[in-house]
Amino acid sequence: MNTTALNPALTTYQAPYRAPLLASVMLVLTLLQGSSATLTLAFRSPFSSDLLITLVTVLWLAMYLTATAGLIATQGINWLTWTVRYRLPLVLLVAGTAFSTVWSVDAHLTIERSIHLIGTTLLALYIGFSLPLTRILRTSALTLGLLMLASVLSALFLPSLGLEDYQGQCGLITTDLIKEAAGTPENTTFFLCGPQGMYDFCLPQIEQLGVPRRKIRKELYGPPLDICSDPGWPKEIEHDHLFSISVKGGQTISAPAGAPLLVSLEKGGVVPPSICRSGECSMCRIKILSGKVFQPAGTPVRKSDHQYGYVHSCVSYPLEDLEILL
Ligand code: FES
Repeated sequence: MNTTALNPALTTYQAPYRAPLLASVMLVLTLLQGSSATLTLAFRSPFSSDLLITLVTVLWLAMYLTATAGLIATQGINWLTWTVRYRLPLVLLVAGTAFSTVWSVDAHLTIERSIHLIGTTLLALYIGFSLPLTRILRTSALTLGLLMLASVLSALFLPSLGLEDYQGQCGLITTDLIKEAAGTPENTTFFLCGPQGMYDFCLPQIEQLGVPRRKIRKELYGPPLDICSDPGWPKEIEHDHLFSISVKGGQTISAPAGAPLLVSLEKGGVVPPSICRSGECSMCRIKILSGKVFQPAGTPVRKSDHQYGYVHSCVSYPLEDLEILL
């Protein structure tokens, strides 16, 4: 093995490239499988069958085994020592992912994904060790170009290949639909995942069924990207308008209207505890002693917090100069 000694972080493997034909085939197969072309054909083509669908997985496993055998046959264990020595973060990531099976809530799924992560890493190593970069780029460009052409042709002449045949319920998630799907919602916890508009519509529907707010959880996406485009935002206040935030018994910082208070406080060196940074966990709550803040609709603040002036600073925005208590 010949490696460049000047900068280990940039060291590249320079063994003579071997078995380029097999590696080229593996590269093409990886692109076909990775772009879901094979899976689409297995599921959606006129020849779709359970056997074909299983074969897609079998093909992945065969490719992993071939890549491992190819690496050992052409490089001995040099590829392994090189990877451990020069790509340690990659090795730790792959090993950590496999090890996470131990505490996974769905060990079966984690094992399945770990196998694919390890397998595709081996594939990448095999292709990288066996083919020069120019060949990889040329083959990838040609394969992906043909795939794009095939996609356009199938959209024109065989559109059924790209159509989902979803047969479940569709339409607005109303109280009736929820009752139909979930039955009597006693002792049921609801988990919502979707855009804000969906939350705005669904939350009242679920609450109408008598479900307490604590039993309705939401996917966390962080604070809104642009709070000033929120429908309730007062248009006269500009994103960059600076307000002063004085922390009772502490320092005073300035905070732009369009940034979450939590972020402005942290930038000013005041760091309240936080976990979700999406308005859900209450960890970052602060008390507003004077001044007004904007909170997007649907921010789940407890009744008692609301009553005593507490807000979740990760999704609260100053509309006036504030005095706060941490
Ligand atoms: S960090 Fe969770 S509500 Fe703010």
